[in-house]
Amino acid sequence: MSAGFMDKNIVLIGFMATGKTTVGRRLASRLGLQFVDTDMEIEKVTGKTVAEMFYKYGMIRFRSEESLVIKKLSARAGLVIATGGGAVLDPENVKALKQNGVLIRLTASPEIIFQRVKNKRTRPLLNNTEDLQELINRMMAEREEAYRSVADFTVDTGAGTRYQVVENIISYLRERMF
Ligand code: S3P
Repeated sequence: MSAGFMDKNIVLIGFMATGKTTVGRRLASRLGLQFVDTDMEIEKVTGKTVAEMFYKYGMIRFRSEESLVIKKLSARAGLVIATGGGAVLDPENVKALKQNGVLIRLTASPEIIFQRVKNKRTRPLLNNTEDLQELINRMMAEREEAYRSVADFTVDTGAGTRYQVVENIISYLRERMF
């Protein structure tokens, strides 16, 4: 990697359960960079889980904590940042993240997302629904443009191994000479 590489953050974006945290951790360790996850930062700052934040204080409060965390992290460099699935729905967050970051979008089909989340209770937006697959289909369709329009590079995590996903991202970064 070129010397300029550490001047940038590598930011993983995309829908819930596309693998941002897992891939981000591995990518950071491969590149010798620090890994941060915005949901985990919010939990650290507030002392509450993401689900508790949503249920006790509501989504608006969660989004405002998320924006604060993003502002702080965007002022740093040389980080691999895994964002929450809703982070780039706010143009202010996108602006901050893009300032010194390259935005890598992770994708997977709605069916694969369903398989990954069906037995988990950690995502408040996907709880309390009769038809989880239908909700996932609808939310993904609604958000598609928001993710697509801001991504510098997109990787499908549904096909291939986590290792291949990480190598794919590294090849892209090398080509771009970050
Ligand atoms: C959200 C995604 C979650 C978390 C919160 C809201 C969203 O993060 O930030 O539950 O709006 O898509 P993950 O994408 O890591 O599940």
